[in-house]
Amino acid sequence: MTQFKTILVTGGAGYIGSHCVVDLLEAGYDVVAIDNFANAVEDEEGSPALQRAEEITGKPITFYKADLLDKPQINDIFDKHNVDCVIHFAALKAVGESMQQPLLYYQNNLLGMLNLLEIMRSHNCYQMVFSSSCTVYGEPEHLPITETHPTGSITNVYGRTKYFIEEMLKDLSAADDKWNIISLRYFNPVGAHPSGLIGEDPTKEFTNLMPFMAQVALGKKPVLTVFGSDYNTPDGTGIRDYIHVMDLARGHVAALSLLSSSHIKLRVYNLGTGRGVSVKELVSVFERVTKTKIPLKYEARRLGDITAMWADATLAKNELGWTTRHSVEEMCTDFWRWQTMNPNGYPKKIKKSVIVINGKS
Ligand SMILES: NC(=O)c1ccc[n+]([C@@H]2O[C@H](COP(=O)([O-])OP(=O)(O)OC[C@H]3O[C@@H](n4cnc5c(N)ncnc54)[C@H](O)[C@@H]3O)[C@@H](O)[C@H]2O)c1
Repeated sequence: MTQFKTILVTGGAGYIGSHCVVDLLEAGYDVVAIDNFANAVEDEEGSPALQRAEEITGKPITFYKADLLDKPQINDIFDKHNVDCVIHFAALKAVGESMQQPLLYYQNNLLGMLNLLEIMRSHNCYQMVFSSSCTVYGEPEHLPITETHPTGSITNVYGRTKYFIEEMLKDLSAADDKWNIISLRYFNPVGAHPSGLIGEDPTKEFTNLMPFMAQVALGKKPVLTVFGSDYNTPDGTGIRDYIHVMDLARGHVAALSLLSSSHIKLRVYNLGTGRGVSVKELVSVFERVTKTKIPLKYEARRLGDITAMWADATLAKNELGWTTRHSVEEMCTDFWRWQTMNPNGYPKKIKKSVIVINGKS
């Protein structure tokens, strides 16, 4: 096995992608990032998130505005670079939207992946880290969740795209021994880079707890709606395994080390802290570290929402040598730093309006 040099990052301008790029550069990799800006901010020069990642690390990133559904475009990028491994973040991820527009999700997430795998194969690149999700487990049969927990009984289309891709990867690795793939099942990524320069700034409508809570703390939204206060949990609210995005990013660097040193074919790892935190607990830590007050409004449970879920991350510890380092306090402090330094997120591209007078602009 040879040491990797060039890593192609799909969805690199997005939330987790941009944080991971920082860690990849700091670990000494060359990064080629692509994104179609479906859910990331674009400016005149490309991606402000990636420009800031360059600022943080003092290292350059090669960036292409490109869509995984545009096969010739992606093929050209692989022709130009000697890609050793792909980290595949690019996907649409809004659960609600996925239920309303299933074809959009199947097309983007499944076809995007198929195109990528075919292009990788034609360029003799068989190494990949895939962004999967704990959502593939559905309602847990036991807690904490190990990687051997059954998958597939999922209640939403987004989650099914992750599950179908994992199944596809199993078939691929069974059919062709050359593939070397790690699927990372993320639990609930939150927080931001401690510099406050990069963070989560989705362009699509979002309902994620921490960005929403920060908007309430900033006074941009009046109240935080909590869905379900009658769950069978100590305080009645849902329990999740929140993980700092920089811990998650480091998990990808650990995955690359394993892929570059061993031919493992296909392995799956949970990336979580192993600790469940309720919505109410998270809100109270956030209030404490940010010295703000978050008004709450309770509404009925949402269909398909799970009572409690947290990871058993022992396998990642044993095989990737990875464990989380950041506390819930740090998740809140770092997210708040990003939000207060950038209350409107990244600077947005100003659309130039063209005034037409008598047919001349
Ligand atoms: N954030 C979470 O809570 C979470 C949890 C589990 C898994 N994941 C997975 O992790 C990955 C990254 O998530 P994120 O939170 O950074 O989301 P994100 O939306 O911030 O990043 C995804 C990026 O992919 C880009 N993209 C989407 N479709 C594309 C296409 N066809 N071609 C090129 N670019 C495309 C988007 O513009 C976006 O910048 C996703 O695959 C997501 O499903 C996220």
